[in-house]
Amino acid sequence: MKCVLKKILENKRSYAKLPLFQYMRDSSLTEEERLGFYPCMAHFILSFGDINKYMLREEPAINLYQQQVNNHTYEDDHHWPWYLEDFTKLGFDHLCSPTSWMRFLWSDETRQNRILTYRLAVLIAEASAVERIAIIEAIEETGNVLFSTMLDLAKAIETRRGIELRYCGEFHFGLESGHSVGSDHAEIAGIPLDEVTQARCLYLVDEVFGLFEAWTHELLDHAKGHSLAFSSTKVTISI
Ligand SMILES: [Fe+2]
Repeated sequence: MKCVLKKILENKRSYAKLPLFQYMRDSSLTEEERLGFYPCMAHFILSFGDINKYMLREEPAINLYQQQVNNHTYEDDHHWPWYLEDFTKLGFDHLCSPTSWMRFLWSDETRQNRILTYRLAVLIAEASAVERIAIIEAIEETGNVLFSTMLDLAKAIETRRGIELRYCGEFHFGLESGHSVGSDHAEIAGIPLDEVTQARCLYLVDEVFGLFEAWTHELLDHAKGHSLAFSSTKVTISI
């Protein structure tokens, strides 16, 4: 698996340079503007719990690799309530009517969020347990880029407003190791792969990063296109 991890790190380096993360690091903008994509990722973030519970997890585990996958899902399947908690704290609860909100979540404007979920589900369904570990590692590294970049923004907002943002901030980041839960880099690197499986893992890694890249572009478009206030005042957006 060593060369698969190397491929993941190469992808991660490019991923971290994507325009969304540059935008999030742009100190000429307010932290709130730089987090303006937050509502847009709702569909995927909430679906990610289901991906863990119903796609990655298989019980009983047929081998040690699947058990490792299952152990990871027990951690990663319940982070989405913290997303909702911050959603409220950031002032997004009064954006629009429930029907407008659902229309937005299933609109063309947010299609990459849904495509990300559906495509990941297909990749996972077709993957063996060890290939699922490669998928998890790739997902975790994309998460590491997002959450490490979001951390500074969260800290600034937390200090200014006297609130705790559990999803955007330290609480969640502390649980995101960048690797599958219970495993370290050396252990994963040491997993032996035959040639065919290795090729499959390399393919899956590229696919995962490609899907997440498309997702970041959608999030950025949303952050730039909508001026969403984080205040408690009612906000109108055209969705
Ligand atoms: Fe998480």
